[in-house]
Amino acid sequence: MPVITNIDDLKRIYKRRTPKMFYDYAESGSWTEQTFRENTSDFDKLYLRQRIAVDMTGRSTASQLVGQDVSMPVALAPVGLTGMQCADGEIKAARAAEKFGVPFTLSTMSICSIEDVAENTEKPFWFQVYTLKDDDFMRRLFDRAKAAKCSALVITVDLQIMGQRHKDIRNGLSAPPKLTPKSVANMMTKVQWGLGMLGTKRRTFGNVVGHAKGVDATGSLSAWTSQAFDHALDWERIKEFRKWWDGPVILKGILDVEDARKALDVGADAIVVSNHGGRQLDGAISSIRALPEILDAVGDKIEVHLDSGIRSGQDVLKALAMGAKGTMIGRAFVYGLGAMGEAGVTAALEVIHKELDTTMALCGERDVKNLGRHNLLVPKGFSGEWE
Ligand SMILES: Cc1cc2nc3c(=O)[nH]c(=O)nc-3n(C[C@H](O)[C@H](O)[C@H](O)COP(=O)(O)O)c2cc1C
Repeated sequence: MPVITNIDDLKRIYKRRTPKMFYDYAESGSWTEQTFRENTSDFDKLYLRQRIAVDMTGRSTASQLVGQDVSMPVALAPVGLTGMQCADGEIKAARAAEKFGVPFTLSTMSICSIEDVAENTEKPFWFQVYTLKDDDFMRRLFDRAKAAKCSALVITVDLQIMGQRHKDIRNGLSAPPKLTPKSVANMMTKVQWGLGMLGTKRRTFGNVVGHAKGVDATGSLSAWTSQAFDHALDWERIKEFRKWWDGPVILKGILDVEDARKALDVGADAIVVSNHGGRQLDGAISSIRALPEILDAVGDKIEVHLDSGIRSGQDVLKALAMGAKGTMIGRAFVYGLGAMGEAGVTAALEVIHKELDTTMALCGERDVKNLGRHNLLVPKGFSGEWE
């Protein structure tokens, strides 16, 4: 068992063990990748206030997200094709999350279906919705999530059309992967991955293929999503979705104050301040920079979560101290999954939990719920001062 001290350790192993096509899929942003880079580098611009001689016994990272108890306010973000990073990846990640006491979010674009994950886990998970043109499919998707007893719906609102990621085009990204001399040569060097894939039947989009009309997912990911996704998605449609679901609704992909206000109007229970991990609008500001203004506008009326750029417990702490109620991690858990399957996702959660807990202590705090702006030193002009 390799020694894992931080998320980068997992990333190194992940890179070695995963076919290039899927590593590149996770480890890229759209176009110039400016937003992708700034998501992480902007966390480094925030400083923590060190406090000393404060009793740090009896610490707790426990909290609640949309009314549900969590061992720390960190959810696994929806990640498409997780089952290509590692065989049956969604089931493995969901199991690691449920054992750790944090929510797992299953993507519409997952390899394992809603039913697969429900059958192989004990606790309810969250389900993420992308809007496809096929209305019957959409209604059935909500019914399937209800039947699987999903405990929250995450509606992603920042991807009607896909931001271009150059590497995916060059690699001809698809699921199952296209077999070219180059991709086969590369996959043959990834023995653990290949054995896993040979041992599973789940190799294409389990929620969509065979369920949505006119979807032929054999082509490249960008080509078939651009044909199947509903480019007409608007606030009226989101309002309709809200009515279709009785439980908590989380709108993911809000980066602008005006949109945060609209999310409130349509009756969302929570929003995720997110730029999709820098995979959509390149040139948009980082999520952590967008957060304070959104909190000032709606933070007392709606639960505000944040994702994009979190690679450590220190980053989680900074987001919570800024005022977010919860966070999501995407790549940080994918690195773990691709490196070591379920054990790797557990390792990622353990790393982040330990960093969060220790950093909290060094900031002189015992309870994650007491974190606040008093724990931060925020440089002037970090947020909200635009021409
Ligand atoms: C490989 C990959 C696939 C993703 N697929 C989805 C998806 O299917 N649905 C979705 O709402 N977000 C998707 N996202 C965005 C994540 O949910 C999340 O917003 C993002 O990963 C957060 O940034 P981070 O990776 O820096 O933590 C994906 C992200 C990555 C890296």
